[in-house]
Amino acid sequence: MQNIRINQIKDFCDNIVKINGWVYNSRRSGKIGFLTLRDGFGLLQCIVVKNEVSEETFENFKKLTQESSISVIGKVVKNDRATGGYEILLESFDTHHLSKDYPITPKEHGTEFLMSNRHLWLRSKRQHAILKIRHQIIKSIRDYFDMNDFTLVDTPIFTPSAAEGTSTLFKTEYFGKDAFLAQTGQLYGEASAMSFGRHYNFGPCFRAEKSKTRRHLTEFWMVEPEIAYCEIEEDMQWAENLLIYIINQVLDKRLNELNILERDIDVLRKVKGPFPRVSYTECIDQLQKDGFNIQWGDDFGSPEETHIANQYDCPVIVHRFPSDIKAFYMKRDPENEKVVLGMDILAPEGYGEIVGGSERETDIEILIERIKEEKLNQSDYDWFLDLRKYGSVPHSGFGMGLERVVAWICGLSHIRETIPFARTMTRLNP
Ligand code: 4AD
Ligand code: MG
Repeated sequence: MQNIRINQIKDFCDNIVKINGWVYNSRRSGKIGFLTLRDGFGLLQCIVVKNEVSEETFENFKKLTQESSISVIGKVVKNDRATGGYEILLESFDTHHLSKDYPITPKEHGTEFLMSNRHLWLRSKRQHAILKIRHQIIKSIRDYFDMNDFTLVDTPIFTPSAAEGTSTLFKTEYFGKDAFLAQTGQLYGEASAMSFGRHYNFGPCFRAEKSKTRRHLTEFWMVEPEIAYCEIEEDMQWAENLLIYIINQVLDKRLNELNILERDIDVLRKVKGPFPRVSYTECIDQLQKDGFNIQWGDDFGSPEETHIANQYDCPVIVHRFPSDIKAFYMKRDPENEKVVLGMDILAPEGYGEIVGGSERETDIEILIERIKEEKLNQSDYDWFLDLRKYGSVPHSGFGMGLERVVAWICGLSHIRETIPFARTMTRLNP
């Protein structure tokens, strides 16, 4: 007899198999018991017929509670009405542990309660589907860059300085000095791009976001490519192609999970290139025409981003922002000193900014001036400025926020469900 996983079931029709798992649900109707087993790979209905199993087995079946761990032995049979098209005619089972008073029952629970029980909530069908899609997105990201000859170079988490503004830095004591948790790996990615040509880093980033929004975590994952000899237009193309690749992979490999989440698949199927490209200035004109109280130079808030994104079925690329609202390292547009060659990609359906990137400033004098303007400590950036002294080249990159992309693709109303254990201003537990 073979030990199998539920997702292998169709290869074992009419065989007796053993499956290790947990009780998702169990109920009885007279002399027939119905047990939904989950094993991490799927859900499966097992039928327990009183007259066909030993008395002891039926009695033990009656004792089973939600989330008890069991190993089931039975025959695989085809049943078109069962989810997955197969079920098990149970012959016997072993109980490893009888679970008692599992807190998450099939009734409705509030989100705070579920978040406090996140370590258990992960077992539910919806959360399982979300994290399977997250896994698929991570794999697609890595495959995309690996296929295109990028080298993964890991960047540090403990850093001496800010890269994305000082207001969201997490400070920690480091042997008598201050250190900060990385907000981005970008500056190190730039060093790596000068060695490898095509670089990416993919890891956790930390920002002390004091806002409680549906889009912000204090610990989130970002993938950041950095490309030597690459200007802003090409940078946009890399980002667009990445998003299209991810969507196609998820549609191809995780349709089942999207259906569990009741995601509108047609909306995702409409995501095709080329994505519209509009300048910040054009957006301001449009917003003013549509009645928003916004001036040139203001940053977009979430209502503005949603309004811009709603004009399109696809993600939209917004470029050339005022330099005052963007990071010190972005290159000034040679055709207009007031704007930088930066770009953000806004997701449809109000999911907001999923990608932020730019061409990088190569002029060391301008960089030093910007570092001073931002009141950053120049000596912390000496190594970074070295990159402009030894074979400086035009280069660009971007960062894509993993959880924002997961939220959008899964159609979730809040970012907290996109990561196994969310960290926000009000949550450090479990
Ligand atoms: O636009 P950001 O701040 O860009 C950077 O950090 C650049 N250094 C990236 C680069 O060019 N290499 O952040 C990039 C993306 C955002 O578009 C968003 O998707 C995500 O990171 N992000 C967050 N996601 C969740 N919670 C937060 N608090 C986030 N802050 C940024
Ligand atoms: Mg940004």
